[in-house]
Amino acid sequence: MKNGPLFFVGIFGALALSWAGVVMGSSKQLTSLPQHFDSLEGQHFPQKLNGIVAQGLDTYKSLGCASCHTQQVRRPGFGNDLVRGFGERQSVARDYLFQSNPPIGQLRRGPDLANYAVRAAKDGVDRSKLLLHLYTGIEGMPSYAFLFEERKNEGHALPQALPVKSPAGTQVVPTPRAEALVTYLLNLRQDYVYPEATPAEPAPAAATAAVATAETAAQAKK
Ligand code: HEC
Repeated sequence: MKNGPLFFVGIFGALALSWAGVVMGSSKQLTSLPQHFDSLEGQHFPQKLNGIVAQGLDTYKSLGCASCHTQQVRRPGFGNDLVRGFGERQSVARDYLFQSNPPIGQLRRGPDLANYAVRAAKDGVDRSKLLLHLYTGIEGMPSYAFLFEERKNEGHALPQALPVKSPAGTQVVPTPRAEALVTYLLNLRQDYVYPEATPAEPAPAAATAAVATAETAAQAKK
């Protein structure tokens, strides 16, 4: 081939350009989204994850919870998530602003957790119940008992001790990883509304037809 090097430089250039456009361009576009200021609440959303919640997010990622749980609510037409009570609106890119590699997940063997905190409050699942769920496991979900430790019961039960059986003279308490994970789960909510989170619904066909008739009538008058 006469122009071999030029040919390969050309191919490399074409691939590099498309990578920059598709991968880098969209990454920059999504990560440079600003926070949304809610004038009624006088606050910016989404808010930065505070220390222990950020630690919980790391634990969530490291334990692979995202292999069975998603954290993305699909809009009507793409799934029945709103009907199933996973959220009040679809998830949007801005929801994940302060998370690097957000665990949005691909497969659902358990329920979506994007709004878990809202659901837990409704179902009356508090911190201690959730810790117990993690310790015992729930149907279809493994136990994460390794996030808890047995500690000597020196005359008094610790307030965070789980109501489970343990060898005499000991009590089962959550480790800091379990505490962080549960704090994270009880902060999972996408209930603030961004302008882009409620896209305009297409008008029903009857209404469009009525507008068209009115417009034709108005034009005829002119
Ligand atoms: C093998 C799949 C699997 C893995 C891994 C898994 N879960 Fe689950 N999870 C489930 C299933 C299935 C349910 C639903 C159980 C039920 O309601 O009967 C569930 C339920 C839950 C619930 C209650 C949800 C609700 O709406 O009531 C929470 C919270 C939860 N999981 C958190 C986690 C966390 C945190 C991890 C990682 C430490 C995790 N899960 C890992 C399968 C899994």
